[in-house]
Amino acid sequence: MAVLFLALLLLVAQAATTSSSLQLHFYSNSCPRAEIIVRQVVQSHFQRDPSVTSGLLRLFFHDCFIRGCDASVLIDSTDDNIAEKEAPPNLTLRTFDVIDDIKAAVEKECTGVVSCADILALATRDGVALAGGAAYDLPTGRRDGLVSRMGDVIIPSPLFSVEKALAAFKKINLDLVDLTTLLGAHSTGLCHCGFFLERLYNFKNSGLPDPTMNPTLLKTLQNKCPPHLVTIQNITDDIALSMNQVATTPFLLDNSFYRALLNNKVVLQLDQELAYTDMTNKLAVKYLNDPEVFRQQFAKSMIKLGNVGVLMGGEGEIRVDCRRINGAATSSLRAKLGAKN
Ligand code: HEM
Repeated sequence: MAVLFLALLLLVAQAATTSSSLQLHFYSNSCPRAEIIVRQVVQSHFQRDPSVTSGLLRLFFHDCFIRGCDASVLIDSTDDNIAEKEAPPNLTLRTFDVIDDIKAAVEKECTGVVSCADILALATRDGVALAGGAAYDLPTGRRDGLVSRMGDVIIPSPLFSVEKALAAFKKINLDLVDLTTLLGAHSTGLCHCGFFLERLYNFKNSGLPDPTMNPTLLKTLQNKCPPHLVTIQNITDDIALSMNQVATTPFLLDNSFYRALLNNKVVLQLDQELAYTDMTNKLAVKYLNDPEVFRQQFAKSMIKLGNVGVLMGGEGEIRVDCRRINGAATSSLRAKLGAKN
């Protein structure tokens, strides 16, 4: 009987360590203060610059969309690899420094325990709450990926139709509600002129502006984004405007995005199209009328996004430095030390 009990206990323990899904408070034993430290560092950045939330949100989305939420977007290029962050849609990603600061603080507390993928997911969660979104419990236990290739980066374009964007989202198990809700993140943050210049001057090759754009907004944007910007080679030299042109508080994560789109006042073409597709229009009206429904669904969709393609258990690794794969760090160190093999 005692042997049977012991065997059962072992089985339960094994099931717990090889759990096939993320868990709430995964680090409660291995690094109990991990989530507190993440929150403290995000908070201190947010106090200096409230735009960190939008930077983190986009960084997290671009991470999860390519190879899953495995922190592959954080990897720096090396002599023999061009990493995801060099791909054109990723050139204006920011807040890598916030992740570095969190990782340094967490490593000081418990070395080699907390993954960069979890740090990015938790930091984004905390940024959302600081910017006025819902505070939600986030399952953790992600491991860090070993691959980051520029060639893998295919992010939906802002020129996509809702249908095409939905097809891209479906590939990562997100649906139309997730798409419409997560695009609500565009209530906050920055957008470079190059991403909507066509709407101002040559919509769908017509030689004319997008007829759906509110005329006052059109004038404002044309003044801020002159047509000669088309010739800019590098998006990082482009002018960045507030993504949410109707918000009085551009760094608040709220339902103002839906007011903007229902009034034809959003900057990106895809965002505007949400007003002209039946189900997305209905959802936009619902979110505008009930901000709490938006907040709660945003949290749910963020948790869903955070589950995309995660590595767990013995997969991947826990990176020591979020910008480098551990093996690569070792080999470059070995090279520096002049090791022969
Ligand atoms: C079909 C999907 C999407 C498209 C086409 C899209 C497109 C864009 C574009 C073109 C920008 C401007 C980037 C720049 O000028 O640097 C942007 C910014 C942003 N996006 Fe999206 N996006 C999508 C989905 C998402 C999702 C799912 C989230 C959040 C989970 C998100 C959050 C943000 C935020 C917060 C910014 C502002 C970034 C900053 O301030 O640095 N986007 N997006």
